[in-house]
Amino acid sequence: MALGSFHPSVNQPASASDVLIAGAGIIGLSLALELHARGARVLVLERDTALAHASISAAGMLAVHDPHNPPALLPLSEFSAQFYPAFLARIEKLSSITVPFHTDTTLQYSSGSITRFAEHSLDPRQLAAALLAAARAAGIELREHTEFHPASALSGQVIVYTTGAWAPHDLKHSFPIRPRKGQMLRVRLPPALYGLCEVHRGDEIYIVPRTLDPQAGTALIGATVEDAGFDTSTHPRDLTHLRALAAALLPALSDESAAPQLEAWAGLRPHTPDRLPILGPLAPGSRHFIATGHYRNGILLAPATAVLLADLIEAKPPILNLTPFSPSRFSPS
Ligand code: GLY
Repeated sequence: MALGSFHPSVNQPASASDVLIAGAGIIGLSLALELHARGARVLVLERDTALAHASISAAGMLAVHDPHNPPALLPLSEFSAQFYPAFLARIEKLSSITVPFHTDTTLQYSSGSITRFAEHSLDPRQLAAALLAAARAAGIELREHTEFHPASALSGQVIVYTTGAWAPHDLKHSFPIRPRKGQMLRVRLPPALYGLCEVHRGDEIYIVPRTLDPQAGTALIGATVEDAGFDTSTHPRDLTHLRALAAALLPALSDESAAPQLEAWAGLRPHTPDRLPILGPLAPGSRHFIATGHYRNGILLAPATAVLLADLIEAKPPILNLTPFSPSRFSPS
């Protein structure tokens, strides 16, 4: 990773910030930290509050080997997973907050067999708290409850849209990004599952134990995949169905008195038609970039996205082939 002086690829006018990032989710703030480490002045605008949506709704699996992932995602996923320890170390250095991995193994159930993967999971709420503290400690300017308007950007300023499922108004018709709702619940682990320390994942269900405080001894059960617009309500019927799917893998979870529900919520994944992220300039040579569409893997892909976007902004050759993620793949040819 290149650190040191920031070299935008074109001369910038004198301005308060070199780069304006629209959207303070995990992608936007991870990119802000990366650019800041390279010497850029960064301003992050957030229409709501920072890290309030998908970034804290996820289960936190770094699911490199999830069979649901399109094959074209694998190189990006592997790169991001390798980079995670350095990403967390940077956050810890700035924030003095350690974000631990809760699990190191995933058992993947598929067609009657179980495959063991070396994959980590973490608690996205712990990551969000540390990332925000790191951004603040770095002096990155963050303006919450502030809508981004292209007209307010300075001429020549680099703009990056990291708006998750909320496609920016002026780009709505160019990029087919849609929310995909995921409901999830967290339960206390029943005595039969005390000490559970691996993720159990099937085709439609995952069980992600929290092994460390403050949620040690509990597990997440997720998640639905729904085309429901921006609705984030949860429904007992759907949560019951998730629990039944989980109990097919770990039967002790069926007992609601031994494994009571502690909370339930729903998040909105930024979905694209090919389930791949959109990473790059809005048009060839443009100083306006987009980094969204991470769908089910925003937590996993944040470190790689930050490095790759920062390289693109500095006009450095990307270290991975970004063709599968090109924003232009949705343009009429
Ligand atoms: N990241 C897991 C999910 O989207 O349900």
